Amino acid sequence: MAASVVVVGSVNVDLIVQVPRLPARGETVIGGRFREAPGGKGANAAAAAARLGVTASFVGLVGRDDLGTRARDDLERAGVDVTHLGESDASTGVAAILVDEGGQNVIAVASGANADVAPAHVGTAFDSMVAEHSVVLANLEIPDGAVAAAAARASERRWPVVLNPAPARPLSRELIAACQVIVANEAEAAALDGVDSLLANGAGAVVVTRGAQGADLHRLEDPIHHQPVFPVDVVDTTGAGDAFCAALAVALAEGRDLDDAVRWGAAAGALACRDVGARTALPTRAEVEELLTG
Ligand code: RIB
Repeated sequence: MAASVVVVGSVNVDLIVQVPRLPARGETVIGGRFREAPGGKGANAAAAAARLGVTASFVGLVGRDDLGTRARDDLERAGVDVTHLGESDASTGVAAILVDEGGQNVIAVASGANADVAPAHVGTAFDSMVAEHSVVLANLEIPDGAVAAAAARASERRWPVVLNPAPARPLSRELIAACQVIVANEAEAAALDGVDSLLANGAGAVVVTRGAQGADLHRLEDPIHHQPVFPVDVVDTTGAGDAFCAALAVALAEGRDLDDAVRWGAAAGALACRDVGARTALPTRAEVEELLTG
């Protein structure tokens, strides 16, 4: 059976404006191109996993609206199993994104249907999953209860849980302890009281992504393993973290060790920055392997 990744998370439609520089508070900056693109941290990760050639399933909600139809179609076209993509009465999630010339961004999200993802929806989805083994990847653009349900159901099956605590908010000790790996950027790790606290509360490992400084893998008993960044021409960093988490989850699902999984994450995260939009430049397996062996 092919390696399998289950993503429990958000799906958005991204409204992107490229700007010469990000505006200051109260300032208006005249932008360049506008584009609408598929997004949402969970859906991006599911699409990234599918692009790497594994079985990728997505658990989440869209609204009963045109944006929801487009979001579903985009996921299907990306090769994601959308059996567990349900519908809510709320509108489909939308993200307003500004991207500057250096590829940095600011993002504001109207959660819409993502805020309706409930433990029961997650439970029903897990009940019908037939994979013998999967890696479960979750983010925090859905309610705590849904993330906790995903972690609990995964633990019952002894499926590893990878949590991307984005956007960061306090995590229960139970959820931290259920995670084999937590992947956070520096701001998120700080907001969660730091790496030591996450490890002390039972996380199996913590990966801190540090942009151009690469990523650090922290485990309780081992020295920090530093993964340098893979150099690419950065156009837009939106979705790089989602691609990182997806590739790490894919590598774990294929039985690679954590050091190797972080390398896969770093390679996929870098390659995802090559074009505007969270999913425009998602790498294929061949592209990741070429960068890794390069
Ligand atoms: O991580 C990038 C994503 O964050 C965007 O696609 C946007 O939808 C927000 O959820």
